[in-house]
Amino acid sequence: MTDARERKIALVTGANQGLGLALVRGLCQALSGKSVVYLTARSEERGREACTVLRREGLKPEFLQIDITDATSVQAAARAIHGRHGGIDIVIQNAAARITKDVAPAEQVAGFIDTNNHGTLRVLEAFVPLLRDGSRLVVVASSFGSLRNLDARLHEKFEGAGLTLEGIARALDDYVAAVRAGTAAAAGWPDWINVPSKIGQVASVRVLASGNKAEFRRRGILLNAACPGLVDTEASRPWFDDMSKAASPDEAARDLIWLATLPPAAAEPYGELVRNRRPLPWQ
Ligand SMILES: NC(=O)c1ccc[n+]([C@@H]2O[C@H](COP(=O)([O-])OP(=O)(O)OC[C@H]3O[C@@H](n4cnc5c(N)ncnc54)[C@H](OP(=O)(O)O)[C@@H]3O)[C@@H](O)[C@H]2O)c1
Repeated sequence: MTDARERKIALVTGANQGLGLALVRGLCQALSGKSVVYLTARSEERGREACTVLRREGLKPEFLQIDITDATSVQAAARAIHGRHGGIDIVIQNAAARITKDVAPAEQVAGFIDTNNHGTLRVLEAFVPLLRDGSRLVVVASSFGSLRNLDARLHEKFEGAGLTLEGIARALDDYVAAVRAGTAAAAGWPDWINVPSKIGQVASVRVLASGNKAEFRRRGILLNAACPGLVDTEASRPWFDDMSKAASPDEAARDLIWLATLPPAAAEPYGELVRNRRPLPWQ
């Protein structure tokens, strides 16, 4: 019989390019050959091409289609994992929409939040029930996701007793409506739509971690958000003239792989936003 500790089932969303592809590569290299690493992508064609790239490197990812804007697609993938393996050990929610430079925030904010925030929730809702004892779940966020980056008037939307995932989703829908109505700045929202979005992702991880703390502690499950730092990808390149300080996707993936493969005895970090292997302050 296969030793369960050696045979991990892992999955990365948005993994056909950029950081996600590097995360799949890193997991394939870090985990034992008995493990199964799912490279997921919204496009079957782009996902399978990315798998071919990694197979040429001697790695053996499996492809699974997931469009995080489509609950049916996310749930079908979770059912497939459950049917094949009975559960999952490592989930990295990395998929994200890009911000397009020459498009007004009012025109792109709804799609951006639907992918990056509601999509993250779809992944959490589908895969958290499949987490095995000792599993690790990582949401790729950013250091923008600290509450410190938000006007104090808005903190109660993302922090406090009684906060729920639904409450965070509603706060982000309100934010989308305010951007579209042109009232966001007056209400204290920052200009850069990535900031409320990343704060929403980190707040969701915190809510899930604190709400399930007793059970997840008992079962050795670690749940965190992570900032990869500036990574040289097609998403970041249009925003910076000088990318010489940016990490390559493979370099940036290392700390996230560390987080996603922490040994069974690790109890920390838990429910944190982690960068360079250390928690960042939330407030
Ligand atoms: N790059 C940085 O400097 C940086 C810094 C901090 C945080 N991050 C975070 O790191 C993560 C990856 O960023 P990246 O730079 O690698 O971005 P990227 O190159 O744009 O890659 C994003 C991936 O997400 C996929 N995706 C988009 N919409 C999707 C959907 N609806 N369902 C499933 N997949 C979808 C894309 O697929 P397609 O190819 O089909 O579009 C692509 O594979 C993001 O969460 C980002 O916010 C990046």
